Amino acid sequence: MSINGFTIYNNEPDLATADLNLIEKARVASASSYSPYSNYMVGAALLLDNGVTVTGSNQENASYPAGLCAERVAVFHSSSQYPDTKIEAIAVVARRSNETHFRPVSPCGICRQVLLEYELKQKRPLRVIFQDHEGKWVVASSAKLLLPYSFGHDSL
Ligand code: THU
Repeated sequence: MSINGFTIYNNEPDLATADLNLIEKARVASASSYSPYSNYMVGAALLLDNGVTVTGSNQENASYPAGLCAERVAVFHSSSQYPDTKIEAIAVVARRSNETHFRPVSPCGICRQVLLEYELKQKRPLRVIFQDHEGKWVVASSAKLLLPYSFGHDSL
């Protein structure tokens, strides 16, 4: 089902193969989470338009605000290593460290702002793939859809 730029999948196998692959890479990436404070392991995987996949996991710190979400670890790494390569999509997944199954997660507000920044920079929408609270998979066709009335460079 598609509505207002969001495509909702009731069953994971119904997603496109490329998106399933990205979700799997995000799941693998979550294993490198450094999250001794929250015990909440997040993985993110980006598909770039050169075919490369870049992954990240959340990295925490005893000084809590110094930690970084998985999405931003992946996006900043990508922009550092491939500054002129466009991001096609990002998938994000999460699980508790004492559980094996993954739980629904969607990018936090700061990560949405960061995704919007790079979407505006590359002048091309990037898809955001995550699981909603009911466990359905959501593919947002653009990061902008996750931040209505957003703040961006054109506000400055
Ligand atoms: N976290 C992410 O990595 N991504 C999100 O979108 C939500 C939150 C991390 C930050 C922190 O390490 C832990 O999850 C608990 O908030």
